Amino acid sequence: MTNKVLVTGGTGYIGSHTVVELQNSGCEVVIADNLSNSKIEVLDGIEAITGIRPLFEKVDLSCAKECTEFFKKHTGINAVIHFAASKAVGESVVKPLLYYRNNLNSLMNILEAMKEFKIPNLVFSSSCTVYGQPDKLPVTESTPRKEAESPYGNTKTICEDIIRDTTKANPELKGIALRYFNPIGAHPSTKIGELPLGVPGNLIPFLTQTVAGMRAELSVFGNDYNTPDGSCIRDYINVVDLAKAHVVAISRLIGEKQKTNYEFFNIGTGKGVSVLELIESFERATGEKVPHKIVERRAGDIEQIYADTTFSNKELGWQSEKSLDETLLSAWNWQVALNK
Ligand code: UD1
Repeated sequence: MTNKVLVTGGTGYIGSHTVVELQNSGCEVVIADNLSNSKIEVLDGIEAITGIRPLFEKVDLSCAKECTEFFKKHTGINAVIHFAASKAVGESVVKPLLYYRNNLNSLMNILEAMKEFKIPNLVFSSSCTVYGQPDKLPVTESTPRKEAESPYGNTKTICEDIIRDTTKANPELKGIALRYFNPIGAHPSTKIGELPLGVPGNLIPFLTQTVAGMRAELSVFGNDYNTPDGSCIRDYINVVDLAKAHVVAISRLIGEKQKTNYEFFNIGTGKGVSVLELIESFERATGEKVPHKIVERRAGDIEQIYADTTFSNKELGWQSEKSLDETLLSAWNWQVALNK
């Protein structure tokens, strides 16, 4: 039997790369997306890579009625990967209700529908943001979660709890939360990648736009942190490697290989990289110079975080494969393709 997977937010950055990997692994995919932060043309990119155009429905899953209608129409789904969510940390501080309403209602509507339409398997797009600034590095899955730094981060923590409690109360439902570290890069075909609207808030799109001459210079937010070179440290994971983790999670659920009804995993490389090291790596990989200056710290940034991936490597049989240089080159190639 072919597995039919619903990918919410499937035209988004991580969603689109995951759709490609799912289709490459033989799954049938249905995308539900409200296109609030993505473009329908992404489907052309997915089709160009895989030869298959996924089914697509424009739907706002935070609306209970629209969500039920969607599930009535699309039958035969046996797993859901839920990406669709608002994700700008800064915006969430200004508009907390928008974030709570959108991110929490969508998940609850989907879980209700999964119960009603007897769809047992859910993979949830979570984040290392649930760990806050950890006391000990690297973070393992046993590292305690900390109070979130932003409403966005808090929605990830609350969503994880909603899935934990719902799968506990309804043993026919099973869930896996994947806690992503910092996803970057693009598909090597340059047919899909990150498509930020407006001025990018994240490091990589701002960096590639700067090198492309669209921005004057990159601001490095702080060089007085307690790290070897003073800039912040993150664990940058290639988006294709990350997408593959979802395919593994889906087969773990469908193959009934879970140890408990609800599981969560760190999805990173296990390596901490500073902003200044990343700039160096980009310059080495691409031969391009990155104009940059050191500025004040950004409010709300944590100093450093990177994953211990021992558990996900062992339990999922998954690990990141691509080097940072290769990943940054893919991000640059994507920016060049966009500007053509
Ligand atoms: C944060 C969240 C992540 C969330 C993401 C969404 C944490 C640990 N991570 O990632 O869960 O999904 O936001 O936006 O909370 N930087 C610069 N100059 C720039 C932009 C960024 O120096 O112009 C630096 C930041 O200070 C940071 C690093 O680059 O050290 C990465 O920043 P960014 O790409 O925004 O991601 P996070 O803030 O780590």
